[in-house]
Amino acid sequence: MRSGAASKGRPTAADVRGALAAATAALREAGCESPRLDAELLLAAALGVARTRLHIEPERSLTREQAARFAGLLERRRDREPVAYILGTRAFRHIELAVDPRVLVPRPETELLVELALTLPRGARVADVGTGSGAIALALKQERADLDVIATDVSADALALARANAARLGLDVTFAEADLLAGVSGELDAVVSNPPYIRDADRPWLAPEVARHEPAGALFAGEDGLDVLRRLAVEAAARARWVAFELGAGQAPAVGELLRAAGMARTTAHRDLAGIERVVVGER
Ligand SMILES: C[S@@+](CC[C@H](N)C(=O)[O-])C[C@H]1O[C@@H](n2cnc3c(N)ncnc32)[C@H](O)[C@@H]1O
Repeated sequence: MRSGAASKGRPTAADVRGALAAATAALREAGCESPRLDAELLLAAALGVARTRLHIEPERSLTREQAARFAGLLERRRDREPVAYILGTRAFRHIELAVDPRVLVPRPETELLVELALTLPRGARVADVGTGSGAIALALKQERADLDVIATDVSADALALARANAARLGLDVTFAEADLLAGVSGELDAVVSNPPYIRDADRPWLAPEVARHEPAGALFAGEDGLDVLRRLAVEAAARARWVAFELGAGQAPAVGELLRAAGMARTTAHRDLAGIERVVVGER
């Protein structure tokens, strides 16, 4: 059904252009950082079309069912639920991961950790500690089929989703429910991890998307944010010749120190696209 004369240039809430205008205003008012993009992603999902279709057909009318579906998605976003949870999926390097509130939404800066691990020697045995959705482990396996990849998490809920992602993507990764590396036996060449590293006291400053919707067990790590990294540095340095940890702004010197104290001869901090020292690599 077309909305006829009303859709010629002038937006109506019943067509794509009008629905997007109204939704963008509502999301801006709710404090969302990228209201137009979010509105487009949600409307495309409600219509079951690619986002580019919205630009090609701005005058396309919404059916009552599509409008109701869009209103439902919009309501969730106005409550600052991450778009990735609402859509149920997130792109990470070359793979598409299912995501929901059981796991952290994989972040673009974590792709740097994967990039660094791509330099590992052929056939290396590598453990991803705190795998969440499986992002790091699965991206690594997808780009380097020769690697033997093991992934751990303390959260059984997160592991269930990571396993489902591995099965859907057809990637052969071994999963273990474990505290850090406790569930991993045998020799390891490398350990990679994006562990919880936010200071408990920083909770009030976090965006509502993070504080209200992402799992606390994936975020917080004590007074200085290093509770998990402190233990992991010791375990990983004892087990592997090469480690790479993601961390928060300002934590690189302390984590480099932890790794050297644990026996790593050389540590290097790598900056993300925002210029923040985001990953520390330790080598024996
Ligand atoms: C920041 S999230 C990272 C998730 C995923 N690797 C990513 O980069 O998107 C940290 C993950 O570590 C897990 N975790 C927290 N403490 C852990 C521990 N002691 N041992 C294993 N996993 C842990 C959490 O359940 C969560 O899934």
